[in-house]
Amino acid sequence: MQLKEMDTAQLQALKIDLQKQYADYQKMGLKLNMSRGKPCQEQLDLAMPMLDIKETRAADGTDARNYGVLDGLPEAKAFMAAFMSVPEENVIVFGNSSLNIMYDTVMRAYVFGVLPNNTPWKDQGKIKFLCPVPGYDRHFGVTEAFGFELIEVPMTENGPDMATVESLVASDAQIKGIWCVPKYSNPQGYVYSDETVRRLAAMPTAADDFRVFWDNAYCVHHLDMDKPAQILDFLAECAAAGNPERPFIFGSTSKITFPGAGLAAFAAGEQTVNYVKKLMASQTIGYDKLNQLRHIKFFGNIDGLLAHMAKHAAILQPKFAMVADTLQRELGDLGCAEWTNPQGGYFMSFNTWPGLAKKVVAMCKEAGVELTGAGATYPHGIDKEDKNIRIAPSMPSLEDLRQAAELFCLCVKLASVEKLLTEK
Ligand SMILES: Cc1ncc(COP(=O)(O)O)c(C=O)c1O
Repeated sequence: MQLKEMDTAQLQALKIDLQKQYADYQKMGLKLNMSRGKPCQEQLDLAMPMLDIKETRAADGTDARNYGVLDGLPEAKAFMAAFMSVPEENVIVFGNSSLNIMYDTVMRAYVFGVLPNNTPWKDQGKIKFLCPVPGYDRHFGVTEAFGFELIEVPMTENGPDMATVESLVASDAQIKGIWCVPKYSNPQGYVYSDETVRRLAAMPTAADDFRVFWDNAYCVHHLDMDKPAQILDFLAECAAAGNPERPFIFGSTSKITFPGAGLAAFAAGEQTVNYVKKLMASQTIGYDKLNQLRHIKFFGNIDGLLAHMAKHAAILQPKFAMVADTLQRELGDLGCAEWTNPQGGYFMSFNTWPGLAKKVVAMCKEAGVELTGAGATYPHGIDKEDKNIRIAPSMPSLEDLRQAAELFCLCVKLASVEKLLTEK
């Protein structure tokens, strides 16, 4: 029965029952964390043999222990190109973090500008950026750090609402970019449709230095390796649409080998790649080639990486299923929430009734379960409707996750019942 169909007496009886259950949880002294999308220890252990690899010579004889090779060893470029589904010549292998490349990319645009005119964004007045919401808090944080105006665009199951995106970018030359997580978006797990990808590639923009920040963070992070989501090749679509320098593409092996000790790479149109290489030459002599070799020797090729991802999926899939099953069992009939059931990535997106997300997160915290702060999925941490909560199932054990998910559902129910009673 839906909560909204209950009369006051039924709601009050339910509230008393839920309060009792909540008090029981409080006594249990739980200490569980579903806040950040970190791989669990078992996942990290999968890559431990990589640390035994002591290879120092690249295929062309380069001594990887020494200085040099700005844009990555040839085999590392080939590997990351296959991983990101782009041609080798369009790839630069950077250091250990794609977020770091994104920050540097914004910084370069801000200080030196981007093609075709290289007019620094800092000299162009108030810069605006499109932020599909709910989205990844750290993306918003990068553009917030530069003082850009962050414009929210609603997400749909097929990607950002393209009618809104197209009309905004066509009419405002101050809009210089959009954040995109095209496959298994953070936090919904949505996959951009072919139509969305084509429209992003082809849409006319008032700014000639507009860029799409294409963060393909979860390109191989499928929960079912037999049903991998596919997206169109954005670089190729942009080139075909006459906008070859529009994409800034990012990826990393953070959630494949080790966060903070993986390989991160950037891909873009040919002219952009050359421009970035020129600028970065005064920033570094080269990144960690020993880590590049370790990764290459460990995986061999992209098939080796995909076989490794199947091991991650075997750990993660039961966790996502546990949360999905619990949500459906506990909340499915009550009509007080909606959530996504991703086929990959690291998160699920959950909506309470408006005005309840903060309360639910606080109630969970008080009973020992930490969730991502309500609002984190919006620019400046402000969810005007106060309804979105990001769920990150990867880190806790299956048993901890069961308890955490059950407590979470209890808090959603209790907060919803209290809201209905106040409104009656
Ligand atoms: C969409 C997205 N991009 C980037 C990152 C961080 O990537 P990296 O570890 O390569 O900096 C995350 C981490 O959660 C993410 O969700």
